[in-house]
This record gives sequence, C-alpha cells and structure tokens, in this order.
Amino acid sequence: MFPTLPLITPSSGYKVNSASVAYTVIVISNRTAGLNLFLPNMSHSSAKPATLAIHADNTVNKVADVAPPIHLSTTYRYPDDPNLLTPAAKFKGDIHDVDFVYPRLASPNSTRFETILTSLLKGNALAYGSGLAALNAALVLLNPQRISVGENYHGCHGVIDIFKKISGLQKLGLDCAPEDLQAGDVIFLETPLNPHGTAFDIDHYAKKAHSRGAFLIVDSTFGPPGIQNPFEWGADIVMHSGSKYFGGHSDLLCGVLATNRKDWFTQLYSERVYLGNNMGNLESWLGVRSLRTLELRVQRASQNATNIVSFLNSALTESNPAPGSDAAAIQTVLSEINHASLQTEAFVKKQMPNGYGPVFSISLKNAEYAKRFPSKLQFFHHATSLGGVESLIEWRSMSDERVDARLLRVSVGVENWEDLRDDFVGAFRALIA
Ligand SMILES: Cc1ncc(COP(=O)(O)O)c(C=O)c1O
Repeated sequence: MFPTLPLITPSSGYKVNSASVAYTVIVISNRTAGLNLFLPNMSHSSAKPATLAIHADNTVNKVADVAPPIHLSTTYRYPDDPNLLTPAAKFKGDIHDVDFVYPRLASPNSTRFETILTSLLKGNALAYGSGLAALNAALVLLNPQRISVGENYHGCHGVIDIFKKISGLQKLGLDCAPEDLQAGDVIFLETPLNPHGTAFDIDHYAKKAHSRGAFLIVDSTFGPPGIQNPFEWGADIVMHSGSKYFGGHSDLLCGVLATNRKDWFTQLYSERVYLGNNMGNLESWLGVRSLRTLELRVQRASQNATNIVSFLNSALTESNPAPGSDAAAIQTVLSEINHASLQTEAFVKKQMPNGYGPVFSISLKNAEYAKRFPSKLQFFHHATSLGGVESLIEWRSMSDERVDARLLRVSVGVENWEDLRDDFVGAFRALIA
C-alpha cells in the first residue's frame, strides 16, 4: 500500500556524499506507514530568523514536497503493525514528536506553523483559532486572582470580563502598586499599544510582576519577531494575534502563545485539546506561507511607518510654514502623532533595536476631519485590523468606543513609502480645500 523504504532509527548518523554533509534521518510518523525522509541536520540555534522562517519546519516535513501540501483529513490511520499501537499515548511536550490522531490534538499544517514560530519567537509556540482564543487559553492556564492591565485592545478586555464573571478575577490598573499583586497573579502588558503604537518598558513590568511572584504576559501583536523579543526582557508568556503580521495578507485568523516553561507548554497543549480552540489546517497552511516572508514584510512596513511619521512630525513642528505649503496644510488638520519612533525614553531603542513597528496613530483637529480623512486617500483601505501587506487606516471610533473621536489608526503596508506620504499630503489638502 505504501512505498517501502529502509527503516532507520532517528538517532542514526548518516553520511550521504563525499562532502560529508550530515543528514538526520527523520522517521516519518509510524502512522504514515514507514515512509522515511532524509532532511538536512541544521543547527537552528545559530541560524538567523530570515533563514529559520524558511527552514525551521524542515524537521517536521513529512513528505518530499518542497512547498507544504494542505492536509484536510480530520483523522489519521493508526500503525498497521500491532506492536506499534500505544493506547492513549500522552503528549511528551515536543511538537516534533507527535503522532497525528485527530486535529484537536495536533495536525500537520499547524505543527509546521508552530515549529517555525517556536524558532522565531524563541519560545515553544502553540497556535489557536484567534488572538482572543490564545489569551483565553493563557488565562485558563494561569487562572489568576488578579490581573493588572492597561488600555489594551478592547477585545482582550472582553476576554478578561468573561473571566471576571466565571472566576471572580479582579481587574487592576497597569500601574497598580506592586503590593496589590500576589503570587500567581498576572500583569498583562500590550506593547506597542493599540491603537497608539507607543512602547512600554517590558523589563519594568517583568520585574514588578516577579517581585510579587506574579507572571508577565506580553501581547506583542504590534511588535512581531524582528521588532522585539519580550522573552529577552523577562516575559513569561508571549501572546500574538497572528491574524496580523504572522498572516500578513489579511486573510487568516489565528492566535499564538509562546513560553519557555515546559510544564506550562505541556499543560497548554493538553488544555487546548479540551478548549478546542485549535487553528485549522487551511489557515495554518496560509500561515506557513506567510511566515516565510515575515522579516521582509515587517522590516519594510516598519521602516515605511517610521519614514511617514518622521515626515509628518517635521511638518507639524515646522515654525511659520509658508502659506500653501504641505506643512501649512498638515498643520491646519493634524494635531498629534503617536509612534514608538517619537519616544525618547532609553528603553525604547533597546527593546526595539531594528525598528518601531508599522502602526502609528494620528489625531486631527476635530472629529469631522477624522471621519472624512480616510475617504480622501487612494492607497489606504478604510478598514479595521492591521499587519497586512496593504496599508489600512481606521477612524478608530468605528470599532472602539473608548477612543477619542479625533483619532485615526494607521497600519502601514509594504508599498513605496513616498507614494503613501504623497497620498497623506493629498488627503490633508483635500480636507481643507
Ligand atoms: C493587540 C491585539 N491583541 C489581540 C487581538 C485579538 O486578536 P484576534 O482578532 O486574532 O482574536 C487584536 C486584534 O486586533 C489586537 O490588535
């Protein structure tokens, strides 16, 4: 029924040619009936993120295809050999070592996606059906009595409010006194912060949490790998709405948790089986394809955003601009810009050494300007969400009632930044025409 290839144990060293390239024998799941593949034995630890995004999943590639196939099956055959049948096998804490049984446990496309994310995030990663599903899983895991949280994405407050109802979880402000926190509590920090794009000091909040035996979860959605690594500054769990930069093309919903605690990872995996909030194979396939270009997209979009912010800020702060100039038009309409690139605190540059992220916000002189501004733009879709290759702008009142009606959130894409800049200038002029 299946091609018969020699069975070689995973530990076998295998020299294949005169160049003595070391190859690891990957014994493809017993369940795929003895199909073995030989994949390069790469040392992932020294490879850089751009390389890992393309090769980290080689070790879980179970087929000869260069481009990953899409697996749609929701059930997988057990081994033909009765000696290989292990009743109710337990998860061993290694996503490289799972036998596919049923997709609420694990499935091939999401395992590849998680394997790449594990190397990029520098923490063991699990994928969920959405960012909010991932936050829900993190709170189920830690079950804190108190959570200290800032403005954060409004949907995350929705998840916390559900926990308030179920467990009596108490919500504290982000800058509550350290003494208000107790062992097992959580500080939930979002940085850069939605919708402003401003950065918060992860190290500060990690120390505060740990001084009380509490834990720090960082929602790093606006600061994907390549922009920041929250583990470096003491985060215990890193969370992402993968619907943003990991998907990168505005076509998939997903969430991610990463942790370096093996006990937590194993528990998260086990609880996901029953929460049932897994990421589907089709989305995971899109996710793998998108992660290949994560660094390129994020670097380009982040640089574009910083260029536009710098241009707008120069125009806004220019003294006595000539009547009819771009700066004069901008000063008539614009009142404020927020972005990590404009922050002067020392931690910002250390925490975000390669760029400040592709999202910024602007406040206009009045709410009517803010409501009309998106309609004057050609290269920005007026839509919610962020992280795609295409630039988006949102009059934030459309989706978040907490936000001042003069505020617009801008998610910069990978277009030519000067085209985007000129589009902005044209829109400022059109508003006052
Ligand atoms: C910062 C942040 N966290 C979490 C989420 C929720 O993610 P999802 O929409 O994938 O559930 C979002 C969504 O916009 C977000 O912006």
